[in-house]
Amino acid sequence: MKFFVDTAEVSEIRALAEAGLVDGVTTNPSLIAKSGRKMAEVIAEICEITPGPVSAEVTATDFDTMLAEGRFLRGIAKNVAVKVPLTEAGLSVCRSLADEGTPVNVTLCFSPAQALLAAKAGAAYISPFVGRLDDIAHDGMLLIADILKIYRNYSYIKTEVLVASIRHPVHLVEAAKLGAEVATLPPNVIRQLIKHPLTDRGLESFLADWRKTGQSIL
Ligand code: E4P
Repeated sequence: MKFFVDTAEVSEIRALAEAGLVDGVTTNPSLIAKSGRKMAEVIAEICEITPGPVSAEVTATDFDTMLAEGRFLRGIAKNVAVKVPLTEAGLSVCRSLADEGTPVNVTLCFSPAQALLAAKAGAAYISPFVGRLDDIAHDGMLLIADILKIYRNYSYIKTEVLVASIRHPVHLVEAAKLGAEVATLPPNVIRQLIKHPLTDRGLESFLADWRKTGQSIL
């Protein structure tokens, strides 16, 4: 399973990349706004940290402007994936950019039918938002299972299911059990995945016993 980091905070991406935990990055207009930086500048910097795909989202809603924005974003670096919303114009832009060889991440997906349309439009990634569905008492993980089943039924192997809006480790584990190709995770969730109280307790007792030996390895 590929891990993308869901943030525009360059220092976080750099630290996680050093630990080998970054296969790509996703951003959205809210995350760029939170970073307080110019979008083109921050995307360029992230693209230098990771060779993996870096999703940069268009902010227009009409076809012509979205397409122009998508081309501009793709021009920032060769590993930019253009993110477009799941609207009719967004799907048309997806088809145009995909035909030009640009990987497109279709975002804000909340139904299996929407995901089917994104695959037909040539998306490289579909981003279903599990956390936001859970927030309104719908089972976000059921959406992942449905999309994977539909894509397998019709061999839509070119569109990877990129599980988004992940809020906690259980989301990640459930998505991995279902076989989703990618999960995009906020840095705090990646750190939650590392932690286990038995690991901490075990390490503490190993080190206490080691100190008693008076030895040092080096
Ligand atoms: C990723 O591509 C999405 O923009 C992101 O996962 C949304 O997460 P949120 O629902 O926690 O804002």
